[in-house]
Amino acid sequence: MKIDVLLGLQWGDEGKGKIVDVLTPRYDIIARFQGGPNAGHTLEFNDIKHVLHTIPSGVFRENAINLIGNGVVIDPIILKKEIEDTEKLGIDLSKSLYISRKAQLILPTHRLLDKAYEEYKGNEKIGSTLKGIGPAYTDKTARLALKIGDIFTESFTEKYDKALAHHKKIFIGYNFTEDFSKLEKEWFDSIDFIKKFKFIDSEIFINQAINDNKSVLAEGAQGTLLDIDFGSYPFVTSSNTTSSGVCTGLGVSPQKIGKVFGIVKAYCTRVGSGPFPTELFDDLGQFLRDKGHEYGATTGRPRRCGWLDMLALKYSIMLNGITDLIITKSDVLSGLDKIKVATKYKHKGEIIDYMPYDMCDDIEPIYEELPGWKEDISKCTKLDELPKEFLDFIKYIEDKTQVKIKYLSLGPDRKQTIDL
Ligand code: GDP
Ligand code: IMO
Ligand code: MG
Repeated sequence: MKIDVLLGLQWGDEGKGKIVDVLTPRYDIIARFQGGPNAGHTLEFNDIKHVLHTIPSGVFRENAINLIGNGVVIDPIILKKEIEDTEKLGIDLSKSLYISRKAQLILPTHRLLDKAYEEYKGNEKIGSTLKGIGPAYTDKTARLALKIGDIFTESFTEKYDKALAHHKKIFIGYNFTEDFSKLEKEWFDSIDFIKKFKFIDSEIFINQAINDNKSVLAEGAQGTLLDIDFGSYPFVTSSNTTSSGVCTGLGVSPQKIGKVFGIVKAYCTRVGSGPFPTELFDDLGQFLRDKGHEYGATTGRPRRCGWLDMLALKYSIMLNGITDLIITKSDVLSGLDKIKVATKYKHKGEIIDYMPYDMCDDIEPIYEELPGWKEDISKCTKLDELPKEFLDFIKYIEDKTQVKIKYLSLGPDRKQTIDL
């Protein structure tokens, strides 16, 4: 069997957590392949609203194995809290949570370095979630990082001390003197706590599972426009959020990839700094924020809101090889007279229909307008209950992208989903 992939096509927060939870009953294994606790994936069912950061979003379904892959960076403090919060809801993670031995550790000092680097950047700061993601991946490529499997080795504290000594040298350069002894103690205590979970050679496990005809869904974090190579650099995260990240983040060959589900919000949001051509600064932007509850699931920061950007969407579809689209949050657009979609940019005096080299350039979006719909669509369960204007809107997205829409999400709850 092949491994399916589900990932975001915008700047994150497209509704990945909700859709993974919806799709999990069809899969044996749900596997995160990149990112870390910068992610915030929200699940809603039976009046429960729950946010996951490192743990895959299949944990509330029976029988699925949830794997944290080698491409993920793990903060033991955050993982411990996440495990405790999830187990409070009656879920026994000792059976369903597997962790790759090759996943990287976020050290207490990585969080402090994130803060130091952001302060250094001043007005040009990325707007990082400050979870230590960038510094942890930096150490990985600099070949200075600790893998989580190291916690079981005799040389663990020696390796930790070495990494710490290196970070302390950087702190001197940044005049950084914050005391982190309390954080360090909590970190080591959390490591003791997580040791009881299942640590595996996940690349072997997952390839064996695929060969045994088990179904696997790879769950992306962040979104394509935050990809370290193809996102709006430097305002990106520090991992490959695109489908190529699945191969390195889980240890599977490209030949093993099956469907690639791309999740798109019916409008756009972005949290943190960086270019966002279709951003709305007026009452409409505030309307989307209020109605869509657009506040960060990890940091609580208000999300910037704007119209759907077709150029960016087509670029994301190309990069990922998207086979099926999933449209979320169209219910938020109910009641608007008109819906706009950017289909071209005015860039350096020219009209273009592709993504320019630098998204940080001055870009003016050029819109096409579609009629809105008045009806509340959040309770619709079948296609024939939906207003014509809405059906025209999704047909428009299919025509422009040349990709079929497979699911419509019309509200945050698991049940508010239509399989097309
Ligand atoms: P993720 O990071 O991609 O998993 O997305 P987040 O959980 O950060 O943000 C998505 C937000 O929208 C969450 O609060 C979800 O509960 C909510 N949500 C997901 N799908 C829908 C939908 O179709 N309609 C509405 N109104 N809310 C949704
Ligand atoms: P999910 O998985 C939205 C953004 C941050 C910042 C930039 C870099 O919930 O969709 P980092 O902490 O990685 O150094 O931040 O990326 N960012 C996200 N935005 N959703 C996320 O994850 C994000 N993870 C990181 O706001 O602009
Ligand atoms: Mg999120």
